[in-house]
Amino acid sequence: MSQDSNTSANEDAHRGPRHVAIIMDGNGRWATQRGRPRLFGHHAGAKRVREIVESCPDVGVKYLTIFAFSTENWKRTQVEVAGLMGLFRRYIAKETRALAEFGARVRFIGDRERLDAKLVSLMNELEETTAENTKTNLTIALNYGARDEVARATKLLAEDVACGLLDPADVDEETLPKYLDTRVLPDPDLVIRTSGEARISNFLLWQSAYAEYEFIDTLWPDFSREEFASLCSSYGDRDRRFGGVKK
Ligand code: FPP
Repeated sequence: MSQDSNTSANEDAHRGPRHVAIIMDGNGRWATQRGRPRLFGHHAGAKRVREIVESCPDVGVKYLTIFAFSTENWKRTQVEVAGLMGLFRRYIAKETRALAEFGARVRFIGDRERLDAKLVSLMNELEETTAENTKTNLTIALNYGARDEVARATKLLAEDVACGLLDPADVDEETLPKYLDTRVLPDPDLVIRTSGEARISNFLLWQSAYAEYEFIDTLWPDFSREEFASLCSSYGDRDRRFGGVKK
């Protein structure tokens, strides 16, 4: 698969981030502060997603990737995990039409093996219905873990070596990304984590090698399009050198 190239010269010229990845954290605390169950916070968090997706074209963001459920999140209580899975099913069923009409192309990354069949079929349907859309690209990481992704990619790469499709002598740092879930996406320019935690939590480890990071105190359900726009705008002032020196 080749990398998506729906980007005009004008968009390339803007100084904002082209790909923003977000670790949406703080739903539980937001609910607890209001004396409500954690799932109340996840519902409030889900409502934020559309607003941020819809503001992407205004701030020149062509790709938005959000961390919805990690390979580690299965360790939460059965009630919370079941509640989140139900939320994803309802969210996808309800949002399909709105996202399609808005013009967002939706993709999922992560391991689908452990997800229930109904959810996987809704995910496939959403990907298919929005496949021709070009206004913005939303990628939802669901049952995603970067180490798990690299392990799955390595397995696929090893299979290609075993059947003679790939020569180990040709493996370099351009090779592995072709096997990652994100193979059609550019690397993130900016990674945002809400809720005051300064951790990456196994999110896009390979892809974010040169990303800029913003750790902000806002809890995800309070994250607004204005704050998103402001972070994208201050990104334009940063001096990214990718290991080189300033020209
Ligand atoms: C982290 O907050 C959030 C999650 C594990 C779930 C993220 C899910 C959503 C925002 C909802 C829906 C998303 C989609 C795409 C429908 P936390 O529970 O770790 O919060 P805490 O750190 O305050 O406990």
